Amino acid sequence: MSHWNDNAKSHNTRRMDAGPEAIARAAEVLAEGGLVAFPTETVYGLGADATSGQAVARIYEAKARPAFNPLISHLPDLVAARVQGDFNADALALARAFWPGPLTLVVPVSSACQVCELARAGLESVALRVPAHPLAQALLTAFGRPVAAPSANRSGRISPTSAEHVMAELDGRCQLVINGGPTAVGLESTIVSCLGDQPVLLRPGGLAREDIERVLKRPLAIAQADAAIHAPGMLVSHYAPEAFLRLEARAIERGEAALDFAGQLGAMAPFSAAFADLSPRGDLREAAANLFALLRKLDASGATRIAVAPIPDFGLGEAINDRLRRAAAPRA
Ligand code: TXA
Ligand code: MG
Repeated sequence: MSHWNDNAKSHNTRRMDAGPEAIARAAEVLAEGGLVAFPTETVYGLGADATSGQAVARIYEAKARPAFNPLISHLPDLVAARVQGDFNADALALARAFWPGPLTLVVPVSSACQVCELARAGLESVALRVPAHPLAQALLTAFGRPVAAPSANRSGRISPTSAEHVMAELDGRCQLVINGGPTAVGLESTIVSCLGDQPVLLRPGGLAREDIERVLKRPLAIAQADAAIHAPGMLVSHYAPEAFLRLEARAIERGEAALDFAGQLGAMAPFSAAFADLSPRGDLREAAANLFALLRKLDASGATRIAVAPIPDFGLGEAINDRLRRAAAPRA
């Protein structure tokens, strides 16, 4: 990528393995207004003090984000989240059912909300999440303030599910990367807005829609395509590998790498430039966890095209297909 602003590349990025020392150092860096990449159960996040406009500005700079899109603020528990936002009955029910976990709730800002305008992109609502990863939990508890954290990749690129991915994306662009191994869920959180009577699915993700609707006892509305908020995860071309993606592939064509699911293309694997199966046993949860890492691996093979087998569109398959369509979309 040639267009990013290399002013952001000014740090000596330190990498630390998970542990009390890493947590203490990370809390210090956040308190100084710096950037820390840390694991959550979904993907690695690039965190900053959500209450500081200057700290949050560094996130956009490091990621070379094209616009100030609103960010998710992370909290250690529901009690801390309720300080920042007003929870209606739906939001409370969802938080109680799924936090800590891969769900983000967009709620109206509370009168005591500390999340800065920049992290909210000036909106009167705020996106809140309580992550389930023990390291994220420890960091949020140690820091004691909300942490704004988008995925720890440069804008428009594949989200990182390991510390190695983060280093490949952001070495020199943040102070610290905490290594907590590969992430369990592998897809960003599901985002639901609870601003009115009708909860709206803003982004499919690591928590399946069916699970959410079971708790709400009614269907989620779908966000309008022309909604005022253009979240980065909602841009058409996003999560883009270098290679072109051919979706719904029933066969591997000459020169293609292949991303399979449940062995559909397995018989042709020897004829592919590179081959990986998201889940040989056809488990959508396993497929979600492997998605970004395997896309990266096939992309690194140098193949110019990746054939992707059909993925079922229920459960976590909805989010997997959403990310694949964005990765396959024509580049801006
Ligand atoms: O799994 C995740 O959610 C990861 C990890 C690090 O927690 N974080 C993440 O953050 O994906 P990010 O910044 O890439 O996603 C932010 C999304 C935006 O796409 C936007 O749609 C939504 O959150 N968002 C944030 N504030 C909002 C608001 N006030 N109204 C509507 N959408 C909002
Ligand atoms: Mg992202």
